Amino acid sequence: MANIIEVEDLHFRYRDGTEALRGLSLSIRKGSRVAILGPNGAGKSTLLLHLNGIYLPARGKVRILGREITAKTERWVKSKVGLVFQDPDDQVFSSSVWEDVSFGPINMNLSAEEVRTRVEQALRAVQMEEHKNKAPYHLSYGQKKRVAIAGVLAMEPEIIVLDEPMGYLDPRGKDNLLAILNELHRREITIVIATHDVDLAAEWADRVIIMKNGRTLAEGDTSLLADEELVRAADLRFPVVVEIFRRLPELNLNPLPKTISEAVEVIRAELKHASWEHF
Ligand SMILES: Nc1ncnc2c1ncn2[C@@H]1O[C@H](COP(=O)(O)OP(=O)(O)OP(=O)(O)O)[C@@H](O)[C@H]1O
Ligand SMILES: [Mg+2]
Repeated sequence: MANIIEVEDLHFRYRDGTEALRGLSLSIRKGSRVAILGPNGAGKSTLLLHLNGIYLPARGKVRILGREITAKTERWVKSKVGLVFQDPDDQVFSSSVWEDVSFGPINMNLSAEEVRTRVEQALRAVQMEEHKNKAPYHLSYGQKKRVAIAGVLAMEPEIIVLDEPMGYLDPRGKDNLLAILNELHRREITIVIATHDVDLAAEWADRVIIMKNGRTLAEGDTSLLADEELVRAADLRFPVVVEIFRRLPELNLNPLPKTISEAVEVIRAELKHASWEHF
């Protein structure tokens, strides 16, 4: 199957009348790394909450692995799509970290042994094993975010959706999460994140979806992040690497480097060139 996620003309209105999604369509291929960007209030979180059936479409369709999400397939979809909420306080509520992370696997009717293995692995992955007996409400915000991520990892879903995954994580925690996402990608898990971090999107994503006013403004590869008109329209800014090379038009680069590795390569080539000129 080409597209593991398909959203077609999705509309959603909150009870107070706010039209959060207004005819949004997008498609995501299996195994891809997708970053969803867009201004505050664009509808990113509302969209993500549709991807595992927490919200059901008011109009339009969401298909996961070719199957439409409805009240009937809701339970099935929750086993396929793991969602890490933007705010860990909406997700982490059990009386201990261990209990919280085991909640999903227990509900999947796995054996006690399998539940234990998965919870241990997930807590180790987010470096929270030493806090396993702690009450989540005594944790720092970043620690709660790690527990929320562990809860989803322990369910081993085919699709992992993370809303602002790096929020509140310290630099080492961010690097560690990036390593987890890379490992999941290696295992062909489809990963979707909503983020305001254009630098992360430029480094990590192979597909970028830009949202505004409850619709898709643009879909494409990370070159969208160097598109002046789009960046302005979506209230984004250029990734730092792009910004640096935009200020060096004399290098005549097209396309501009977007990742640190690409930048290093270009600079190294320029240095070589310069040292030849010196002779
Ligand atoms: N529970 C709610 N009730 C009413 N309106 C809501 C609710 N949750 C979100 N909204 C509104 O829906 C719109 C989309 O919100 P959403 O949280 O999906 O945006 P977002 O793109 O995730 O923003 P952010 O970048 O701030 O996380 C906004 O106008 C918001 O005010
Ligand atoms: Mg949000």
